[in-house]
Amino acid sequence: MASTSDRFVLAGVMGWPVMHSRSPLLHNYLMKRHGLVGAYVPLAIPPEKLQGALRGLAPLGFSGCNITIPHKSHAMAVVDVVDPTAQRIGAISCVVVRPDGSLFGTNNDAFGFMQNVLQRQPGWRADAGPVAVIGAGGGARAVIYALAERGAPEIRVVNRTPERAETLARGFGSPVTPVDWSERERALEGVTLLVNTTSQGMVGHPPLDLPLDALPTTAVVSDIVYVPLETPLLAAARQRGNPTVDGLGMLLHQLRPAWQAWFSIDPEITPELRATVEATL
Ligand SMILES: NC(=O)c1ccc[n+]([C@@H]2O[C@H](COP(=O)([O-])OP(=O)(O)OC[C@H]3O[C@@H](n4cnc5c(N)ncnc54)[C@H](OP(=O)(O)O)[C@@H]3O)[C@@H](O)[C@H]2O)c1
Repeated sequence: MASTSDRFVLAGVMGWPVMHSRSPLLHNYLMKRHGLVGAYVPLAIPPEKLQGALRGLAPLGFSGCNITIPHKSHAMAVVDVVDPTAQRIGAISCVVVRPDGSLFGTNNDAFGFMQNVLQRQPGWRADAGPVAVIGAGGGARAVIYALAERGAPEIRVVNRTPERAETLARGFGSPVTPVDWSERERALEGVTLLVNTTSQGMVGHPPLDLPLDALPTTAVVSDIVYVPLETPLLAAARQRGNPTVDGLGMLLHQLRPAWQAWFSIDPEITPELRATVEATL
């Protein structure tokens, strides 16, 4: 395969819808900064065209693409190889076109989540005590995988639909414990970290219905929603003195493993990169 210096490099984000994604802004900014001649494009692909679109990446000369809603789990059945991390999470967030044209699927959401928390709250330790995760969808699976890998001794998963939390706990096994939605306030007792992985608090959605009275004021509060940057949950946490971590960094840190796999470049996550997206939120 030609090196990135003698070809027009191509990558993108595949989703449906996709035009709201901030990824093109970020990746194109980085391409310019790293002197790559190329483009990162939004690929609006309806579910019935996913297989054809993924198979088209290699002949079109793409280095790979990110995968977003609603394709993250379906793409697993299309690619040739799924790495163990993506298998355990049950979703692909990134596809890499290999030199022989085959497709490799991985998941960088867990890495992005953990790097973001560690960068913003370097004093926090996963093994220091229980953590609470609200939600049991795709984002939650990546967050729980990351927390379990990092050694969290107890991961309390609270979801509106209890069956989803139970399925997830069965799949991950210890240390994941499902907690009923009606018990969500009590699930916050003694935790070192609270993470919202539901869509609640996102622009156009109501705030997450979760009183924080039982939460220790030392607990880190993180939201994987990043539009708005400060969700009502993060605002409430900040007002009572909890350290907070917004969801934008999770998106930013996912860039690094993707770029390493696509272009053999390890881009730095700089304040300027963050400011580029923040200006659009
Ligand atoms: N920062 C990042 O890089 C990043 C990465 C991934 C996702 N995200 C964000 O995370 C959010 C969730 O994404 P996802 O892919 O995990 O979605 P998903 O798989 O559809 O899961 C949605 C979750 O939200 C819960 N939920 C929805 N409406 C609710 C309500 N009214 N009350 C309580 N819970 C409710 C669902 O509970 P039920 O099971 O009961 O329906 C489920 O647990 C989105 O806003 C997405 O943009 C951010």
